[in-house]
Amino acid sequence: MNAVAASPADGARSERRQRPRRYLMCRPTHFDVTYAINPWMDPSKPVDTDLAIAQWERLRALYLELGHQVELIDPLPGLPDMVYAANGATVVDGKVLGARFRNAERAAEGPAYLDWFRTAGFTERHDPQYVNEGEGDFLVTGSWVLAGRGFRSTPAGHAEAQEFFGRPVIGLELTDPRYYHLDTALAVLDTDEVMYNPQAFTPGSLAVLRRLFPDAVLADPADAAVFGLNAVSDGLHVVLPEAATGLADQLRAAGFRPVGVDLSELLKGGGSVKCCTLELRPRH
Ligand code: ARG
Repeated sequence: MNAVAASPADGARSERRQRPRRYLMCRPTHFDVTYAINPWMDPSKPVDTDLAIAQWERLRALYLELGHQVELIDPLPGLPDMVYAANGATVVDGKVLGARFRNAERAAEGPAYLDWFRTAGFTERHDPQYVNEGEGDFLVTGSWVLAGRGFRSTPAGHAEAQEFFGRPVIGLELTDPRYYHLDTALAVLDTDEVMYNPQAFTPGSLAVLRRLFPDAVLADPADAAVFGLNAVSDGLHVVLPEAATGLADQLRAAGFRPVGVDLSELLKGGGSVKCCTLELRPRH
């Protein structure tokens, strides 16, 4: 599909352009909340797996309608969080950095995802030595890799990513347990444009964000709390939780086309749109 151009909403911004993407997703066939490794998870609350599957299917269909390619990895029984494909790896320039999970409950997902990449013909793969939770904590902009730490991925994991990708990795310290992965507090909208929740970072990391992205879209606490920042942008469309209505208005004003989706069942595991979506970035 050719790039789709949007007319800028305020006339001040340059024209937004969509770039077709290739994503990896995992059907929530075995999704459940059987343990709690973040404050959103409550194993005593019932989970409707069929509803989770239906909501996830709509997200997948939406990506296809928008002209993106969606690859699928087989879900494995006993790995209820495997639906959160963003955590499975980080792919930049066709190079695959595997994940190494902090929590034992998710440890087996790392090798499972690396195995998919081997079968899919990705020849440059690195099995990490240090903890990193894939694109949960690594978000790729045109110039940098933004890297979350404080709850899951570690500084040693950041250093390992910088060495493997040969791109500057910028460490950002997260402070609020509800926003335990960087992708719950910040989303990349375009080459070097982001939106984020200022309340999720330490003062020093916030200063770094202000310096790098002085024009960033800043989310209100209410939009952050419905996981509005757990969003996926193709440069024009920004797919985000539909409850983040204020954020959708801000995005529209910045020339993007927000597309709201309902992934309420997957929020019970502490994830939404971005968590379910791993971007496969090709070699340039
Ligand atoms: N239950 C999962 C965990 O706590 C959710 C992961 C969400 N994924 C994400 N990319 N933020 O690890």
